[in-house]
Amino acid sequence: TSADTLTIRGDTYPVDAKTNTPINILGKVERQLHMQEGHPLSTLREIIESHFKDYVKLRPSTPVVSVHQNFDELGFPADHPGRAETDSYYVNGTHMLRTHTSAHEVEAYKTDENAFLIAADVYRRDEIDSSHYPVFHQMEGMRCFSGEQGLDFIKADNARLAAELEKCPIIIEDDTVVGPSNPYQECHDPELATEIMKNLKHSLNGMIFKLFGGSTGDEPLKVRWIEAQFPWTSPSFEVEVWFNGEWLEILGCGVVVQKTLETAGMGHKSAWAFGLGLERIAMVLFDIPDIRLFWSTDPRFLDQFADGKITTFKAYSKYPPCYKDMSFWLPDDAASKDITPWHENDYCEIVRDIAGDLVENVKLIDDFTHPKTGRRSLCYRLNYRSMDRSLSNDEVNVLQDKVTGRVVDQMGIEMR
Ligand code: PHE
Repeated sequence: TSADTLTIRGDTYPVDAKTNTPINILGKVERQLHMQEGHPLSTLREIIESHFKDYVKLRPSTPVVSVHQNFDELGFPADHPGRAETDSYYVNGTHMLRTHTSAHEVEAYKTDENAFLIAADVYRRDEIDSSHYPVFHQMEGMRCFSGEQGLDFIKADNARLAAELEKCPIIIEDDTVVGPSNPYQECHDPELATEIMKNLKHSLNGMIFKLFGGSTGDEPLKVRWIEAQFPWTSPSFEVEVWFNGEWLEILGCGVVVQKTLETAGMGHKSAWAFGLGLERIAMVLFDIPDIRLFWSTDPRFLDQFADGKITTFKAYSKYPPCYKDMSFWLPDDAASKDITPWHENDYCEIVRDIAGDLVENVKLIDDFTHPKTGRRSLCYRLNYRSMDRSLSNDEVNVLQDKVTGRVVDQMGIEMR
């Protein structure tokens, strides 16, 4: 990695005006937490893999994909918000860090196998709080049915899956009426589409029971299916689980759009796909209160976990927090000064770049527009706390000063 190139997992990419991937993010690419033996994310991966035993396991070796793979070939419209530089890490104009494991669906379909499970690290620019981190981990599962297998094959498989579910105390709220807002695809025979959707639902309900079924005490597990939208699936769903008194959204899924399969040269097949985030599920199952803990190398964290077992995390200590407020005026007329419009994610990127995992959350506490001048001022509270040690006030002041210097320099704002 030099000034005009970035090297990521052995491959070198030229940088250009679109590059917005900071060096500190590239350091995380090597960690591969989902493959680290005994790590909660790896245990969760193994449990999910054990549910989908016969599926081909794919572990893409680099997080760099083309913009085409991440968005275009999945049918994302040109103006989809996920494409924004404020939301995604671009390596350059043509390549980026994948924002989801769906970026590998088409290349997987091309292999002509019929069942896949992908596990990988994914990257998104975001706010800073206990449940958001710029790197997280996803799993993607897909199942294809070839034309020759036919309707009877899927029906028989559905009967087998339904029989297995009979043994699981699970209440499924499923009023997802497929209709105009979430249609079967026109090119699908409705009977076939119904059976594929059933196959998807049975497969995922079984997996969800395997994950959560042991944690609800005497109550049966409650799951609900809600209509959703993804550019490469129709109909599409989000699935939520009732856990600790609230609905927890755990995955997105649907029947794969036929055009996506055609792109892979597999237009003669039909398929379903799902994607889920490992951190969100691991946080509730292992009772891990802060997403930064997954990145801890402290033995007081790692030694609490054994490979393959879901156990409850015991907080080893909580060091004191230290917060600092920062108030500033946004630039009057960003356009004329050649400054990109204000975006909280850009601000958080600078904070993370300087303070790393020492910052616990960043909260907007005041947003004020001057009645006469129309100038807008914001006040953010930066809450610093280490998970491993006590921070001194002096050390936090140094961080806060550095953040102040950088945001003034780079974002054209004026401190109050
Ligand atoms: N990739 C989607 C996400 O990150 C999840 C998804 C995967 C949805 C596969 C449908 C099919 O939210």
